[in-house]
Amino acid sequence: MANKDPVLSPSLPWKTRISVGLLSFVTDTARRNNGTINRRFLRLFEIKSPTTPSPVKGVSSSDYTLDSSRNLWFRVFVPSSASASAPKSLPVFIFFHGGGFAFLSPDAFAYDAACRKIARKTPAIAVSVNYRLSPEHRYPCQYEDGFDVMKYLDGEGALPEEADVSKCFLAGDSAGGNLAHHTAVRVSEEREKFKAVRVLGLVTIQPFFGGEERTEAELRLRTAPIVELQRTDWMWKAFLPEGSNRDHEASNVSGPRGKDISGLANFPKTLVFVGGWDPLQDWQRKYHQWLKKSGKDAELIEYPDMIHAFYLFPEIPESHQLFTQVKDFVLNCITNSK
Ligand SMILES: *[C@@H]1O[C@H](CO)[C@@H](O)[C@H](O)[C@H]1NC(C)=O
Ligand SMILES: *[C@@H]1O[C@H](CO)[C@@H](O)[C@H](O)[C@H]1NC(C)=O
Repeated sequence: MANKDPVLSPSLPWKTRISVGLLSFVTDTARRNNGTINRRFLRLFEIKSPTTPSPVKGVSSSDYTLDSSRNLWFRVFVPSSASASAPKSLPVFIFFHGGGFAFLSPDAFAYDAACRKIARKTPAIAVSVNYRLSPEHRYPCQYEDGFDVMKYLDGEGALPEEADVSKCFLAGDSAGGNLAHHTAVRVSEEREKFKAVRVLGLVTIQPFFGGEERTEAELRLRTAPIVELQRTDWMWKAFLPEGSNRDHEASNVSGPRGKDISGLANFPKTLVFVGGWDPLQDWQRKYHQWLKKSGKDAELIEYPDMIHAFYLFPEIPESHQLFTQVKDFVLNCITNSK
């Protein structure tokens, strides 16, 4: 048992193993030793989903560009049920995709499917953000893009009329969870700049946090799928400012250099998802503990048998459960805000 290989966790369907293997191969090959990414190589393997102006699986989608000079755009997913809804009746679910701040986009097949599902199931208007990627663009570019999208949504007519921006949710998985958190902090700090936008909840799905210290799970699961240690070290190095280390406030949020959010009265209620085969789990639990210590309302949901990013693989039954829990969280936050 001592040599049990964490990569071969017993609960992974063959289809997931193949996808995970391919994803790891492609991203490892695209990452160069000198810290750059071979984007041309990456494009050969990207499976992108087009927008669907007419509904597909009960959801239509379209892309909006905010700033073409930095390729800042988002994809909006509108459930078909919206046409029967009153104006300003649906919550707005702002989503940041994962990929270590360096990879993927809202039109990546898996993320398009995930946002489509959230839009249909909740129902909600989902907004999936194409932020700038590292290492070409480092911290704080990604956070600026997140905040600028929130400012844009605060303006008139940015979304279909069924959207109610006084019921916003910030969400993301992995690096996107980190981004959603930091965007929530900034929106809370600068609340007076927003006329209509109110953030009622924050959904962090296996968020990417870290630090110099090696945690027990990082060492035990150092070769686990997707977020093995040498990959996450590379991601932090590509994202954080030159000369800083992983104890930066962007990564080690709960450490002494992290921002004190205890005084932020309107920081939203937060849901944190953790997987038992995820090397990042200790940092995620610390994040949850830190939120509570800072006087924030935070809920932790554990999936003991799940790997990082499991919810993106619909062949894993627990994936559906997570979407249902996200929906329940959103609806509860709305009920409690009344
Ligand atoms: C990194 O390596 C690639 C491929 O060898 C090269 O094209 C690129 O200019 C290098 N970049 C830097 C910053 O050294
Ligand atoms: C980083 O996080 C760890 C664990 O929470 C903490 O012990 C350490 O002091 C932190 N370091 C800094 C500089 O924030």
